[in-house]
Amino acid sequence: MSVKSALSNEFIVDDISNGLEPSPVCLVYNDDKELEELRVHQKPSHGNEIVTNEESSSYYDGCDCADNCISEDCGCKSTHGYFYTSQHSNQRGLNLNFPVSTSIFECNLSCTCTTTVCPNRIVQHGINIPLQVFKTRDGRGWGLRTLQKIYKGMFVCEYAGEIIKTEEAKRRWEEMNNNAIARNYVLCLKEHNIDPIHIGNAGRYINHSCAPNLQIYLVRINSLIPVAAFFAVRDIEIGEELTFDYSGADDHCGQSGAMIDGIEDKKGMKKCLCGSEICKGMLPFDQSL
Ligand SMILES: C[S@@+](CC[C@H](N)C(=O)[O-])C[C@H]1O[C@@H](n2cnc3c(N)ncnc32)[C@H](O)[C@@H]1O
Ligand SMILES: [Zn+2]
Ligand SMILES: [Zn+2]
Ligand SMILES: [Zn+2]
Repeated sequence: MSVKSALSNEFIVDDISNGLEPSPVCLVYNDDKELEELRVHQKPSHGNEIVTNEESSSYYDGCDCADNCISEDCGCKSTHGYFYTSQHSNQRGLNLNFPVSTSIFECNLSCTCTTTVCPNRIVQHGINIPLQVFKTRDGRGWGLRTLQKIYKGMFVCEYAGEIIKTEEAKRRWEEMNNNAIARNYVLCLKEHNIDPIHIGNAGRYINHSCAPNLQIYLVRINSLIPVAAFFAVRDIEIGEELTFDYSGADDHCGQSGAMIDGIEDKKGMKKCLCGSEICKGMLPFDQSL
């Protein structure tokens, strides 16, 4: 349902996730025509007809903590790492000293701890920060911004979508190249690719910036297929647009997921409109595809 704002000419859709996330993802728009570009929103269950994935049990060993993983003895933390630490106002966030290539392990279905209490479960709870999809006014299409201050290390949302193999990603990329709008959504990871073009979540609206405020880390929970999760690399103010570097690179020259892009000129590069002082001028382009 959409409601017209009393203060401006904007229409507001309260929650495009339809209650699928703990915190609503709202959307503001000015003109019904803008909605034509908008696609179906639904948090996908991992696995689809292309790569199947059984989630009734975990692929990873669990801990047998009786104290809900509060102590240092937690088997999950001592085996894989102490990824989440107490940060601003005692909220737990990712310790960003880990290289981006590190897999983060959360407690899983094999663990004895209580899902709602264990501090080693963050990404698996979904979006906990009120977010807003809005139309950028500089030609980048839709974007995503936060309606709450986000502190460095906090989890924001995952990049959810269909899990596809590289051959399928190539086929879809060529199909996209023939399309007039030609926005790209395929995120290439080492093990698989994620395409939210048909089914996805708010992560699909995050634009590229050469000076981003988010970084993707791969988080392993119950599935062999890791979750591509966005964490804040610095404090982010209310109303600020959320961005990540589509090349997947971070300050330490590590790499996580990369977004293939680029079609507008013959070199296959697309102009970057991020507006940052250190803008490289073009969107990252993966020539392997
Ligand atoms: C994952 S989508 C992001 C959401 C997109 N803006 C939309 O309207 O759905 C990636 C596409 O957004 C656009 N985009 C993202 N960041 C951009 C930037 N810094 N400069 C220009 N276009 C950008 C490009 O068209 C790119 O293919
Ligand atoms: Zn534990
Ligand atoms: Zn555990
Ligand atoms: Zn840029």
